[in-house]
Amino acid sequence: MSQPLKHYLQFSDFTADDYAYLFTRAALIKQKFKAYDKHQPLTDRTLAMIFEKASTRTRISFEAGMYQMGGAVVHLTTGDSQLGRAEPIEDSAKVISRMVDLVMIRTYEQTKIERFAANSRVPVINGLTNEFHPCQILADLFTFIEHRGDVSQPLACLKGKVVAWVGDGNNMANTWLQAADLLGFTVHVSTPGGYEVNQSVAGVANNGCFKVFADPLAACKDADLVTTDVWTSMGYEAENEARRTAFAAWCVDEAMMAAAKPDALFMHCLPAHRGEEVQAAVIDGPQSVVWDEAENRLHVQKALMELLLLGRL
Ligand code: CP
Ligand code: NVA
Repeated sequence: MSQPLKHYLQFSDFTADDYAYLFTRAALIKQKFKAYDKHQPLTDRTLAMIFEKASTRTRISFEAGMYQMGGAVVHLTTGDSQLGRAEPIEDSAKVISRMVDLVMIRTYEQTKIERFAANSRVPVINGLTNEFHPCQILADLFTFIEHRGDVSQPLACLKGKVVAWVGDGNNMANTWLQAADLLGFTVHVSTPGGYEVNQSVAGVANNGCFKVFADPLAACKDADLVTTDVWTSMGYEAENEARRTAFAAWCVDEAMMAAAKPDALFMHCLPAHRGEEVQAAVIDGPQSVVWDEAENRLHVQKALMELLLLGRL
């Protein structure tokens, strides 16, 4: 059984209808996982995972997910493969994609994953780039739906909602913008000066899907979800000291959560730095759903891998 070749390089690669299918499917796959009910549609399929940056959640969720679905995994890093010795991306893509069924890549520039995908015979998944982190937003939206919606009508609870983004205009922020544009909610973005989201990098034509706030507290007002991320993303470590100063007021605290709706959720893609981008009282508090959010990486990515390899079942 072979599917038309489809990659998942950014959130906008899928339609709203694809997401409705994926969330409903992820709920079923999660239910089976919890019941120890085997779900092995990917027997004899192999996933290659290429990590040019560190990972805990992405690696374990893809690796465990593929094994749980009956498949196998090959783990490559820059240092232990010819990727670190300047083999061209195009050549690597041609070779790797002749030997496996699916590739997940975590790397730096989005152009690298695009060049790989353009030369790949098999689907390529973005496991984080400097510009985007679509698998994380997939898990975040699924977590919101589980807590505030209904998996049989998964997109309904997202319409018209407000997501407050407090912090860096980074890969997560860009991906939230793409999701808002596609699924009909609004992102209230508050970043320090110099770290704003760039609409053209985010790739959203519609500037109605987000509003910019100088004050992070104002961005959180009446939000349905408050979310943040590290002040310094992987690859930007040289800017660490400058960022510590610039981001000092962009710490999600109890006052920000109090400004949001009373039933607002708090999310963080993790890893988190308590006392920097989030107060311990918030991330460890009653509105935080970060552990569900982390676990859901497993379930949504199993649905994603199944969709890319087998289509809608
Ligand atoms: N959230 C996330 O992608 O975590 P890792 O960096 O641990 O994979
Ligand atoms: N923005 C962070 C996310 C880590 C999961 C980074 O790119 O390092």
